[in-house]
Amino acid sequence: MTALKLDKICKSFGTVEVLKDIDLTVENGEFVVFVGPSGCGKSTLLRVIAGLEDASAGTVAIGDEVVNNVAPSKRGIAMVFQSYALYPHLTVRDNMTLGLKQEKQPKTVIDERVDKAVTMLDLTDYVDRRPSDLSGGQRQRVAIGRAIVREPKLFLFDEPLSNLDAALRMNTRIEIADLHRKLSASMIYVTHDQTEAMTLADKIVVLRDGRVEQTGSPMELYNNPANQFVAGFLGSPSMNFLQTSVKGQPDGVTLGIRPEHLGLRDGGRIMGKVTHVERLGGDTNLLITTMQGEALTVRLFGQHMAQVDDEVALDFDDAHAFYFDANQQRVYPDGIATAK
Ligand SMILES: Nc1ncnc2c1ncn2[C@@H]1O[C@H](COP(=O)(O)OP(=O)(O)O)[C@@H](O)[C@H]1O
Ligand SMILES: [Mg+2]
Repeated sequence: MTALKLDKICKSFGTVEVLKDIDLTVENGEFVVFVGPSGCGKSTLLRVIAGLEDASAGTVAIGDEVVNNVAPSKRGIAMVFQSYALYPHLTVRDNMTLGLKQEKQPKTVIDERVDKAVTMLDLTDYVDRRPSDLSGGQRQRVAIGRAIVREPKLFLFDEPLSNLDAALRMNTRIEIADLHRKLSASMIYVTHDQTEAMTLADKIVVLRDGRVEQTGSPMELYNNPANQFVAGFLGSPSMNFLQTSVKGQPDGVTLGIRPEHLGLRDGGRIMGKVTHVERLGGDTNLLITTMQGEALTVRLFGQHMAQVDDEVALDFDDAHAFYFDANQQRVYPDGIATAK
């Protein structure tokens, strides 16, 4: 059985079309990440699934039931927001139990579910505190706990880690992955952060301007992007795009090459000058301006002696090259555009 099926979802606010013909299937137990730049429609899509916004056209089915006319509270979903949305005057325990009390669940059920969630989220010592006496990470765990105790058919997360600092984001990301394994639940997770998408998803949905650009596993999208947008959005540092810098490159075609696939090679096809060196310890990133004036990044494994103003020659294995046409669609080496 599928957890969620969207069929041709459209959403407009006034005359502005925010979502355009979105089709999507989420399988039971799948972790699906919506990723795309700010304003591309991720939150709106999540809110349509939750029933907080009505779709202008198309159907939303949860399990086998079309839910377009079903109230949010009856859809079997639980949502976790970036802002946590906790009640400041309630304790951790009361924040977590409120929804269950409103559902009139028996006390034994409530206690059992809350105890389990609190243990799972390492909140045992904090159940009597108010949100103001918790760190940001702890507050977000309470918000997640409040979703868990509802035992929803589908979890919806809207940028839940955006308010946390970098170190905590990484820890919480691992905790969410772990939680997904333990609960075997269906989850949809929205983020603008490609690292979160790559590390959490079974399936990534790349959105741009209200449309799905490509759907697939992280490695499918990384290794086989359908177009220049997906190629450039996933991966850090991003893929390099060169119009003219490579000897023998046909006119009107953009070469895409990932930073880790470029190397310093005597007699290489790309000549340039080092403009900046990032020494990360484990890796060294060289920022280079080619003789044709195009900027690119080279990621070298380990520590490297290169200095600013060094003149360098670069090359790559042709098997790692991507080509894109003037419409930013993928062109395959035999010249046939079969992007999809
Ligand atoms: N209630 C609303 N009324 C009008 N426009 C809205 C409303 N909600 C969102 N939008 C617009 O829809 C677009 C997508 O917004 P949103 O879904 O929040 O993007 P994301 O979550 O990807 O950053 C934006 O251009 C935003 O301004
Ligand atoms: Mg958003």
